[in-house]
Amino acid sequence: MSSRLDLLNARVPRYTSYPSAPHFNASVDGPVLRRWLEALPRREAVSLYLHVPFCSSLCWFCGCHTRVVNSYSPIAGYVDSLLRELALMDRALGAQRQLTHLHFGGGSPTLLSPDDIARLIDQIRDGFIINADTEFAIEIDPRGLTRETLEALAKAGVTRASLGVQDVNPAVQRAVNRWQPETVTRKAVEQLRETGITKLNIDLMYGLPKQTAADVERTVESIAALTPQRVAVFGYAHVPEMKGHQRLINDADLPGAEERMRHYETAHAALVARGYRAIGLDHFALPDDPLAVALAAGKLARNFQGYTTDVASALIGVGASAISSLPQGYAQNAAAGPEYGAKISADEFATVRGRALTADDRLRRAVIERLMCDLTVDLDAVASNHGASARAFATDIEALAPLQRDGLVHVDGHRVTVPEAKRAAVRLVCAVFDAYLSSGNTRHSVAV
Ligand SMILES: C[S@@+](CC[C@H](N)C(=O)[O-])C[C@H]1O[C@@H](n2cnc3c(N)ncnc32)[C@H](O)[C@@H]1O
Ligand code: SF4
Repeated sequence: MSSRLDLLNARVPRYTSYPSAPHFNASVDGPVLRRWLEALPRREAVSLYLHVPFCSSLCWFCGCHTRVVNSYSPIAGYVDSLLRELALMDRALGAQRQLTHLHFGGGSPTLLSPDDIARLIDQIRDGFIINADTEFAIEIDPRGLTRETLEALAKAGVTRASLGVQDVNPAVQRAVNRWQPETVTRKAVEQLRETGITKLNIDLMYGLPKQTAADVERTVESIAALTPQRVAVFGYAHVPEMKGHQRLINDADLPGAEERMRHYETAHAALVARGYRAIGLDHFALPDDPLAVALAAGKLARNFQGYTTDVASALIGVGASAISSLPQGYAQNAAAGPEYGAKISADEFATVRGRALTADDRLRRAVIERLMCDLTVDLDAVASNHGASARAFATDIEALAPLQRDGLVHVDGHRVTVPEAKRAAVRLVCAVFDAYLSSGNTRHSVAV
C-alpha cells in the first residue's frame, strides 16, 4: 500500500490538456494545423490566446515560458511576428469568427507598449469579431504597471485582469526574487477599477521557499481585503530539471509534502471563510462569479489557462510556445527564439509539436475534465456521450483501489468521487485514467 507521503510526492500532470503536453510529438506541424483550421465550421465562435514571453525581472519560481528583457527592441520584433502570425491565421480561417474569449498571457503582457496593444487589437479585429459578449482577459504584473498601459488596455476592451501576487511576506519575496510591497498590488487594483476593468483575479502560490502556513493566511487576508471576484492558489511546481533558474531556490528552504498540504488547507479554509467557493483544484470564486455559476450548473471547463466558462470548441494559440486546442487535436508553437521568428517571417505556421486526438483520448479527456472540474464523474454518462461503454474503464477502476484505501476517492459502481477534504489530491485520481502516464520519460510536479 502506498503511504500518504508517497502519494503527496507523486509527480502528475496539471491536466490543462489531455494528453498532457509532454506527450505531444512532431507528428503535428504547420501544414497539419492549417488543415485543422480550414476545417473549422465557418459559423462557429472560437477563442484566441496570445502569448507574450517577456518579463522585466525573473521570479526564481517561474514555470512560465518567458525571459527577461532590459530593452523594448526584442518585444517590438516579437510584436511584428505576432501581427504576421495573426494575418496567417486569418487566411487559414477564411472568414471572420465571433470571439468568445480573448486572452493575453505570459510572461507579462503589460510590458507591451500602448501603441503595440492597439496594433495587435486592430489586427485581431480583422480576423475576429469582438463584441459585448467577448471576454477579454489579460495577465498583469502589478509591478511597474503604468497609467498609460492601463488606459491602452481599457481602450482595447479588456474586461478581466489577473494579477500576480504569490505571497506578501518580504522574506518569501526575497527567497524568490520577487519584490512586491502590498501597496503596489493595492494601487494596481484601484487603478484597474478606475479605468473600468473591474473583473479581477489574483494569483497566490503556496509551497514557496521560506513560506509558512501563517504567511499563506496573512496573504489571503491581505488580498481578500481587495475583494477580487476570483483567487487562484497554485502549488509551487518545482522542476529544476526543466526550469534551470529554479536552482536559484535553496532546496533546504522548500516546505515538505506535509507542510505544503497545510499551506493548501490554510488557503482553502481562509478563502471559504471569506465567502469564496472552491473551484476545482486551485481556483476560488465569489458565489455570483461566472466560474461559480458554471460549476453549480455542471458547465465548468478546463483549458490551458486553467478553469474557464469558455465552451468554444476551438482555442487558437498565437505566439511563441502557444498551444491551440482544436476539435482535431493540439498544436504547439516553437518556444521563443530564432525558430519561431524564422518560421513566421517565412509566412509559415511555427507549429513544432502536438497530438491528434483518438477516440480513446477524447473519452479519457472528458473523464479527467469532469474530475478536475466537479471532483466527481459518472463514467456511464461520459461513456454514453462518446458512444462507448463504462466497461472500458474496468482496469482503471481496479487501479483506484490503493487510492480508495487511503480515502482519496470513493467508487460507487461507475460513479467516481474525490471527497471534498481530499480536493488537493484530485490529480492523483485523474492520473489513474491517464493512459500515457506510465509511458515515456515525462516530468511533472508533485501532486499536492
Ligand atoms: C504569467 S504569471 C502572471 C502574470 C505576471 N507575469 C506576474 O507574475 O505577475 C502566471 C502565474 O503562474 C503562477 N506560477 C508561475 N510559476 C509557477 C510555478 N512554478 N508553479 C506554480 N505556479 C506558478 C504564478 O502564480 C503566476 O502569477
Ligand atoms: S511569475 Fe510572472 S513576472 Fe515572474 S517571471 Fe514568471 S511570468 Fe514573469
